[in-house]
Amino acid sequence: MNRRRFLASAIGVGGGTRLPLYSAVSRSPANLKITDVQVLVTNPMQSAAGNFVLVKVLTNQDGLYGWGDATCTGSELGVAKFLEEHLRPAMLGRNPMRLEELWQTLFFLPYYRSGSVHMSALSGIDMALWDIKGKVAGLPVYELLGGKTRDRLLTYRSVGGRNYQEVEEGVRRLMADGYKVIKVQVSAPGLESGYAVPPSARQHASTAKAFEAGVAPSEVWEPGPYVRTLPKLFEHLRKTVGEEIELLHDVHERVTPSQAIVLAKAVEPYRLFYFEDPVRPEHLDTFRTIRQQSSTPLAMGEIYTGQWDGLYLITEHLIDYVRHDLAHCGGITTGRKIAAMCEPYGILTAWHGPGNISPVTHMANAHVSLSVPNFGIQEFSVGWGEPVREVFSAMPAYSNGSITIQDRVGLGIDVNEASAKKYPYLRRLRPTIRRDDGTPWPY
Ligand code: CO
Repeated sequence: MNRRRFLASAIGVGGGTRLPLYSAVSRSPANLKITDVQVLVTNPMQSAAGNFVLVKVLTNQDGLYGWGDATCTGSELGVAKFLEEHLRPAMLGRNPMRLEELWQTLFFLPYYRSGSVHMSALSGIDMALWDIKGKVAGLPVYELLGGKTRDRLLTYRSVGGRNYQEVEEGVRRLMADGYKVIKVQVSAPGLESGYAVPPSARQHASTAKAFEAGVAPSEVWEPGPYVRTLPKLFEHLRKTVGEEIELLHDVHERVTPSQAIVLAKAVEPYRLFYFEDPVRPEHLDTFRTIRQQSSTPLAMGEIYTGQWDGLYLITEHLIDYVRHDLAHCGGITTGRKIAAMCEPYGILTAWHGPGNISPVTHMANAHVSLSVPNFGIQEFSVGWGEPVREVFSAMPAYSNGSITIQDRVGLGIDVNEASAKKYPYLRRLRPTIRRDDGTPWPY
């Protein structure tokens, strides 16, 4: 066949074979309908930070469904009820393939839109719809996002210690395990607590007592000793573990704007991979001041709940890594849009990936991270035990400083509902953090 005739037949001109219409494809996406939206709350770890809110979108095609993660620690049952009462009725009978249109519909639906409850619910629906779309296409979700831009995802793990030596030992253990990037956190003298440091025996006991009584545990925090201690931790680590290993740190918003500036300048000589959550996300102007005074790379975004939150930080290039949580910001759809907004500024992705969001989000993180051009690093929780592996069929696999996922259709993860039902919701109020004089302070 000559070239002209081949082209004519491929596009159906001149009586050649026509490509089948979508509606003639066996999976008939044009005729798909959502028949149910089910919410499953499970806590396979039976721990304080382990309530997962899972959402299953079912269709009129036998065996075709999608799973999403709508976990929002601190508001779990609020999200579950919102999904069942306010989003589910608007989805029944709709075509699950019209993902963007459904996303927009559900975003505008409650009128008083956005916020962590609404956006976590929408994130779960979004993931489930991408899962369905991948299954219909017979492809992993990353293929629908443009295909792999890389084979594996650089990851990091956290070390917390009550003193410099404990942190150093933890760093050495992780280096031996192949980690190239390590997050380091330390207690400050005179403070019993700290963000991401192991609790003392007394704290452990008082937290357990608070949970038993159904009240929130409380911790006392003073930013001064922490600000004086942190630069010395990095000085110690650079002297003992060397210059090669990449180190990062999470301030977790626990300092004042001026203290954040002092810290970003003080840690500059130790070349951090990034400096995370230096101030409360509301203090936008502080980012500009930090930027003007320090070259320490900044990371921000894990509590943002949409593509507009943090937009100023992106378009003004006031951060280096964007850390939105795909379970709270609007799912894969929002994640890829945020990544695209960051690309022209050279801002890289570092999606939030702690152990208190389910493996479904960790799979969603991996699909987006594998495909976007401006990937930086992917946080991943490797510490899950047997019950989590019993409930979830898959999760990213760690090896030599990176994570990978298997090439399966959709998100590549299923949920064992019978197992999930064995691990019910557990009420565990989050700790309240207070200054020494009783003032409430960011966690
Ligand atoms: Co953080």
